[in-house]
Amino acid sequence: SMERDMEQCRTRKHTVVLVPPPLQGHMTPMLQLGSILYSKGFSIVVAHSEFRPPDPLNHPGFIFHALSDNLSGYQASINNLLDLISAINSNCRAPLQDYMVQLMEDQKLQGYQVSCMIYDALLFFVDSVSTHLKIPSIILRPNMAAYMLSCHCICKLQAENRIPFPESRLQEPVPELHPLRFKDLPYPITNAIPEWLMDFNASSINIRSSVATIWNTTDCLEHSTLSRLQQCYKVPCFPIGPLHKLEAAATATSFLEEDQSCISWLERQPPNSVIYISLGSIACINEQELTETAWGLANSGIPFIWVLRSDSIDGSQLDDHFPEGSFKSLLGERGLIFKWAPQKKVLAHRAVGGFWSHCGWNSTIESICEGVPMICRPHFADQIVNARYLTYEWKVGLEIENVVDRGSIEKSIRRLMVEVEGKEMRQRMLIMKDKLEAGLQKGGSSYESLNDLTEFITSVSS
Ligand code: UDX
Repeated sequence: SMERDMEQCRTRKHTVVLVPPPLQGHMTPMLQLGSILYSKGFSIVVAHSEFRPPDPLNHPGFIFHALSDNLSGYQASINNLLDLISAINSNCRAPLQDYMVQLMEDQKLQGYQVSCMIYDALLFFVDSVSTHLKIPSIILRPNMAAYMLSCHCICKLQAENRIPFPESRLQEPVPELHPLRFKDLPYPITNAIPEWLMDFNASSINIRSSVATIWNTTDCLEHSTLSRLQQCYKVPCFPIGPLHKLEAAATATSFLEEDQSCISWLERQPPNSVIYISLGSIACINEQELTETAWGLANSGIPFIWVLRSDSIDGSQLDDHFPEGSFKSLLGERGLIFKWAPQKKVLAHRAVGGFWSHCGWNSTIESICEGVPMICRPHFADQIVNARYLTYEWKVGLEIENVVDRGSIEKSIRRLMVEVEGKEMRQRMLIMKDKLEAGLQKGGSSYESLNDLTEFITSVSS
């Protein structure tokens, strides 16, 4: 009841301003965090880019404000993501500051106050606004904590003049970064890393004047990593994940429409029989990989749901590359293809027994929470680190490395879906699932951390 008293005294008098970027894997955890803080009695304002805004109808209690960003007509693709982020960092600074000044005045008149700003780790510009206006700021990290340490390591290698790093030593373990090898670092280090990428990396590990960091991970997965980061940053660190498993966070957050029709098809499939394939919102494959995957799926005999966004294939039409005959005749019967699926529902369905994933952190933690073992095909950045943990440390995923021929794809799918190896991985996943769920219960680490966070936010409000 002391908790309830705290919530009473906060009731909507304390406002938290959230600043997310227009990327699915970052927008989702920010909106989930907003919903959770809302349920704890805070008012929530979301200041977002005009480009690809969140849908206010999914969050009737929030206030949404679009920051003018000069990005109308912008075509986001995998090749210009950092341009998009850097345009938002420079174009939205003044609009955010103007808006904040106005908001603070309005709130004061009503006897309310802005407690803090919580911004995504990519949006560096928020720090200059919050410092200027003397509002405490907190960074939300949507990745695994181990990714942060691997970014620190890239900086260190560069400072020690060890990049380009010899190809012959890539298999060696990175000292003090178990279980990572040099080849598991988030950027390729065998060639010089371009200056803009080094700058980006340096900005992303810098927490500037933030008074705390929030992580969509949990102490039971990353205890030692989190304590190292806490020591390094010297501000409180709140691992409160998995966010999507908190009841308050069960709101829709997809930019694309989720095709619900797969659920009735899943109802007709036996337990653990279907493989779900998705590469998240950004990663692409080439035509050859598309064709080989289609053949591998066809030959495996395993039922499948395959998400292929309209921009999943580098610059061409999907249909042109599907094998004629055998593969196409499976569609609608043994397999389904969708542009976007209700992923969390699919993973939670008893018929789904495996997940072929690019290992984005949201997908990873969603799969763990449903006890679904994985085929890991990381594409870039943190995905490579996540895949190493899944395959080597936790032993709940199979690694596919740059092999894109139909034979090895078929074999991997069968190893995961029908062989003993896959069953053992599923058992280990179920143990992880239980641990993560326990962390969210009263007395669990994420539960306690979330309470600490809400008290912290209330206490930093001046
Ligand atoms: C990006 C990065 O690539 C990722 O590595 C980082 O950790 C976060 O930001 P993304 O590539 O989109 O994200 O992958 P991921 O983190 O897995 O997020 C994708 C989200 O979209 C998940 O929450 C997933 O449930 C959802 N999704 C995906 C759907 O709802 N439907 C789909 O069909 C596919």
